[in-house]
Amino acid sequence: MRLMGFGLLKPKNTILGSDIAGRVEAVGRNVTQFQPGDEVFGNTAKYGFGGFAEYVSVPENAVVLKPTTISFEEAAAVPQAAVVALQGLRDKGQIQKGQKVLINGASGGIGIFAVQIAKSSGAEVTAVCSTRNLDIVRSIGADHVIDYTQEDFTRNGQQYDLILAANGYHSISDYKRALSPTGTYVTTGGSDAQMFQTMLLGPFISRTGRQKMGNSAHKPNQKDLVLLKELIETGKVTPVIDRRFPLRDVADAIRYLEAGHAQGKVVITVEQNNNTSL
Ligand SMILES: NC(=O)c1ccc[n+]([C@@H]2O[C@H](COP(=O)([O-])OP(=O)(O)OC[C@H]3O[C@@H](n4cnc5c(N)ncnc54)[C@H](OP(=O)(O)O)[C@@H]3O)[C@@H](O)[C@H]2O)c1
Repeated sequence: MRLMGFGLLKPKNTILGSDIAGRVEAVGRNVTQFQPGDEVFGNTAKYGFGGFAEYVSVPENAVVLKPTTISFEEAAAVPQAAVVALQGLRDKGQIQKGQKVLINGASGGIGIFAVQIAKSSGAEVTAVCSTRNLDIVRSIGADHVIDYTQEDFTRNGQQYDLILAANGYHSISDYKRALSPTGTYVTTGGSDAQMFQTMLLGPFISRTGRQKMGNSAHKPNQKDLVLLKELIETGKVTPVIDRRFPLRDVADAIRYLEAGHAQGKVVITVEQNNNTSL
């Protein structure tokens, strides 16, 4: 993330809080898409962050109407993680119906969405997680599960058409071995070494062979949020919330997330007014 421009020695942006969900309080006179009272969700990352708050002011393009079938808390769990998963699988991964797709880090914020989006694309999905998360990834639709504490998916002889590395670490040569001869490997996260190797070697491997390997960084946009709203309203994607923290405990929430073992998403709730979550 440092090399992607987030600040080499320290974060460029010190304001936190990307995803939001809530009710529109007021609109500027040039706003055409929303009116006060609309229920929306979105991503403030392109507009300076600031989502850890009771009120946030954003351009209208940062939000879309919230799915009608889920709560504000659930909606606040969606934007960045689900868009990362969607763009990694669809844009970089070119996911196709019937493909064998593996998600590494399937139980985290991004992985939980990746499993469901891959399933809704008609793929046969293998989810890699630890023992305590096997049930949750099965419950969201994974066809096969691999417990990484028991088995190394890069050494079991199986090959996949598409691998999305949402978390964890394997060397790029491990991933290469687990890919079919024309397979695609996409890194959206995980250890620095995992991201760095893909950034450095991915373009070379992609140019010299039939396998494709590369990183995917998320690009927030309204179109993808609308697509996710539809996937949620049709029951194809369901947010999973691990823990909720009140706004005053944001620091605890960040500490919990930093430990790296969240099961799905962590949400900050605004207690003062139950209509708003972020
Ligand atoms: N590309 C982008 O634009 C973008 C945007 C946002 C975030 N990211 C990056 O994406 C990564 C994942 O984000 P996230 O929100 O999904 O993280 P997260 O929610 O913190 O991930 C935690 C999950 O990962 C699992 N995990 C930990 N070690 C693992 C391993 N070795 N193998 C498999 N699973 C493992 C944990 O389960 P256990 O502890 O039980 O294993 C836990 O369920 C991070 O590196 C983040 O910086 C990228």
